Amino acid sequence: MTQLRSRAWFDNPANIDMTALYLERYLNFGLSLEELQSGKPIIGIAQTGSDLSPCNRHHLVLAERVREGVREMGGIVLEFPVHPIQETGKRPTAGLDRNLAYLGLVETLYGYPLDGVVLTIGCDKTTPACLMAAATVNIPAIALSVGPMLNGWHKGERTGSGTIVWKARQMLAAGEIDDAEFIRLVASSAPSTGYCNTMGTATTMNSLCEALGMSLPGSAAIPAPYRDRQEVSYLTGKRIVEMVREDLKPSDILTRDAFHNAIRVNSAIGGSTNAPIHLSAIARHIGVDLPLKDWETEGHKVPLLVNLQPAGEYLGEDYYRAGGVPAVVGQLIEQGLIHEDALTVNGKTMGDNCRGRAIEDEKVIRPFDRPLVEDAGFIVLSGNLFDAAVMKTSVISPEFRTRYLSNPDDLNAFEGPAVVFDGPEDYHHRIDDPATGITPETLLFMRGAGPIGYPGAAEVVNMRPPAYLITEGVSALPCIGDGRQSGTSGSPSILNASPEAAAMGGLALLRTGDRVRVDLNTGTANVLIPDAELAERRAALIAAGGYAYPKSQTPWQEIQRAVVGQMNTGAILEGAEKYQ
Ligand code: FES
Ligand code: MG
Repeated sequence: MTQLRSRAWFDNPANIDMTALYLERYLNFGLSLEELQSGKPIIGIAQTGSDLSPCNRHHLVLAERVREGVREMGGIVLEFPVHPIQETGKRPTAGLDRNLAYLGLVETLYGYPLDGVVLTIGCDKTTPACLMAAATVNIPAIALSVGPMLNGWHKGERTGSGTIVWKARQMLAAGEIDDAEFIRLVASSAPSTGYCNTMGTATTMNSLCEALGMSLPGSAAIPAPYRDRQEVSYLTGKRIVEMVREDLKPSDILTRDAFHNAIRVNSAIGGSTNAPIHLSAIARHIGVDLPLKDWETEGHKVPLLVNLQPAGEYLGEDYYRAGGVPAVVGQLIEQGLIHEDALTVNGKTMGDNCRGRAIEDEKVIRPFDRPLVEDAGFIVLSGNLFDAAVMKTSVISPEFRTRYLSNPDDLNAFEGPAVVFDGPEDYHHRIDDPATGITPETLLFMRGAGPIGYPGAAEVVNMRPPAYLITEGVSALPCIGDGRQSGTSGSPSILNASPEAAAMGGLALLRTGDRVRVDLNTGTANVLIPDAELAERRAALIAAGGYAYPKSQTPWQEIQRAVVGQMNTGAILEGAEKYQ
C-alpha cells in the first residue's frame, strides 16, 4: 500500500504545527488519536441524500450500513454532504446543478483528509456529478446506488415514474381524465423511497455506472427498500477499504474499453438520451477520448433486451428479479460485445463478474436472439442545423414509423414544415393555439433550451402534439431541439443538438415555415434553404445582438453560462478537464 494521503493531515511529523491543528478538531466529536493516527484508511461517504432530494434520501439510512462495512475492515468514516440535485424539484432545471455538485465534490475530495470515497448515487445527475469528481481527483472510489422505487400500480397496471406523466398529460389534454385523476395517476408511480422505477436517466446511469465497473456487480438494480440493498451497502463499505489498500483508482477502471462496454449496455437496456452527455463528461474528466460518434459506431447495432418502460412494459423490481446488469452483460459477452478484461471495483474483470450469468425472467430481459428491437442504439445526426444531435431509435413507435417513414421497417427520410418554439414557456403558451399552424406534417422545433440558453439545458424537447391533433389520433410529431429529453419519455426526438441556438448554432437561423428534411439512413438533418440565405440570416441575427435568451437569475447561472461547453462534448466546465 502506498502512503495514505490522510497522513499528510493527521500524522505528519515534518509539520507538527499543522498536524496538531488538523487533529484537534476532528477529535472534538469523539474520534480518538488512535483512530486518526494508526494508519487506518479514512473513507468519505459523499452523501447526496437529503429531504430536498427524495430520490436519494434513502442513502441517509444506507450510510449506516456502509459505516459498518468500513469499520469492520478497519477504516474510519467521515460522511459529508454533496450539493443536492433533485431532478424533479430544482428550478429552472436540475441540469444546472450537475457541474456545481461536481465542483463542490472535487474541492471536498481534494482538500480534506480522505483516502477513499463511497459515492452515493441515484437520481439522474447525482451519478455523473459524483463520477466526474472521482475522475478528476482520482482517489479510490466506489459508487453505491440508492436503487429504484418499488413498482407503481394503478388499477392493475404498472405505472412507471415519469413515463406515466407523459401519458397522463395526453389523457388530460384529450379530456379523458380530470385534474384530480391526473395527480392520482402520477402519484401511483412513486410507491416507496428510491429513484424512478422506469428505464429513465437514473436507472440508466446507475446501470452504466455498474457497466463501467464503478459499483459492485449486481448492485445497480436492487430496489431501494429491499434487504439486499442494505446488504450491498455493507459490502460496498467493506470493499472501499480494500480498494484503498490496493490503491485501485478510477483511472484503473474508467478506460476507453469500459466506456465502450457502457455504450453497448446502454443500447441493450434502452438507456436514456442523457447518457451520452454524462459519459462524455466523465470520459473527459478522466482523460479518455470518447467522441459522440462512438455511440453510433459502438452502440447502434446492439439490440434492445430489457423490457422496461418507456421502451417496454416492466419496471425496476422486474429488472432486478430478471438479473439486472450482470444478466444483460452476460448476453453481450456471448456475442463478443463486451471487453471482458475491463477491471471493476471488486478487483475482478467484467468478464469474470458476468460471464455465464443466466437471465431469470425472459419476459423482462430477453435473450440476445429474441430482442425487443434490433439495432436499438442511438444514431448521431448532423447537418446545417447542428453539428451533432442524438436520436434514440428504440422508441420509434409503429404509428410513427408508418406515418413518417415510407418503409416502416427501415429508418429513412422524412420532411416537413417547421414550427419553432423559443424555450418551454413559448411552447406551453402556443402549442394548443390553432394559430400556431401545427398539422400532422409539422416538425416541432425547440430551441433556446441548451446549456447556455436555458442554463443547464432543460428536458423539454419531447413536445406533445396540440390537443386538437391528439383527439384526431396523432399521438406524436417529430421533435428536434437543442435541449434534452427526460429518459422516461418514449418520444423519438432528435435531441441535445450542438451547438445550441444560444451559441449561434444553425437552429438559431430557423424560421417557422421553413422546410426541414431528416434522413435517418445518412444521419442528416437540414433546413432546405440555400447557404447564401442562411449566411444572410446569420449576419442579420448577429447585427441584432445574437440569439436572445432569458437573463441569469443567480450567480451560478451566470458563471456556468460563461464557461460551459456544448452537450456533444459533455457540457462540462471547459478548462476543468485539465485538472486530473
Ligand atoms: Fe430522481 Fe427520476 S426524478 S430519479
Ligand atoms: Mg431527467
